[in-house]
Amino acid sequence: MSEPALTVLYDGACPLCRREIALYQGLQADAPVCYADVSDAALALPPQTTRDELMARVHVRHADGRMESGAAAFVALWARLPGWRALAWLARVPGVLWLMERAYRFFLRWRPAMQRRARAWEAGHMERELRSDHAGETGAVFIYAGILAVSRDPGLREFASRHRATEAEHLRLIEAWLPAGRRSRLLPAWRVAGWLTGALPALMGPRTVYATIAAVETFVDRHYQHQIDHLLAHPGPEGLLPLLQTCQADECAHRDEAAAAAAVPPSALLRLWCAVVGAGSAGAVVLARRI
Ligand SMILES: [Fe+2]
Ligand SMILES: [Fe+2]
Repeated sequence: MSEPALTVLYDGACPLCRREIALYQGLQADAPVCYADVSDAALALPPQTTRDELMARVHVRHADGRMESGAAAFVALWARLPGWRALAWLARVPGVLWLMERAYRFFLRWRPAMQRRARAWEAGHMERELRSDHAGETGAVFIYAGILAVSRDPGLREFASRHRATEAEHLRLIEAWLPAGRRSRLLPAWRVAGWLTGALPALMGPRTVYATIAAVETFVDRHYQHQIDHLLAHPGPEGLLPLLQTCQADECAHRDEAAAAAAVPPSALLRLWCAVVGAGSAGAVVLARRI
């Protein structure tokens, strides 16, 4: 592998730094840029540097070994990013780099307080997301209860019993992460909504149920993916990411199994029903995050 033109050394334990670096990582650079998290104890540090000094300010290391820090480090990075190059040019105007460095030092003074706020927001964010997962898995268990209460079709009953067991396991796993007092206060409503989402299509027959399940699970797959993407960019508590990935894999299998069992393309009316179910699921997530 070729030596990177620039290595950015940043504090990955800081939610503010992580967010800014994630922004740069998503951009195309005109030469290889490597991003190194100096909070990772396994990372080998450049010669004559300490972890504490690298975590206190952002640094870059050029291919020739030259180090820069603070505003000068940002300017070196921006010069590699076509969309940000104008800022690097601006820094060449006499006095501008000095001003940028003053602004960066001002930010550093406030960084600990901003980190505390950002960490509190992230903890609250994951709790809100888990509350929506818990509400969703509760609804899922009740969808299958609704199907089993109505349908006498042996194939559909076997499908519903098997899926209900998986959903009950998802619910159990998520309950372990979310204390009872932090769960949605609308749980009775999610149970009723879930039960009706299973029972109503079951009145119409297995094909309507399979199409409904495929629509719900398509939404759930995207919902979990959104949370997984967030955790990949902003690592959360250990064990949460694999849990969400396990649930998502099960939901995708449910979606594919239901889509295959539906067999024929849905009618216009069934497509409309599935759109209503998808929109209802999205609305429920918004509400469950808050209430
Ligand atoms: Fe589930
Ligand atoms: Fe599922």
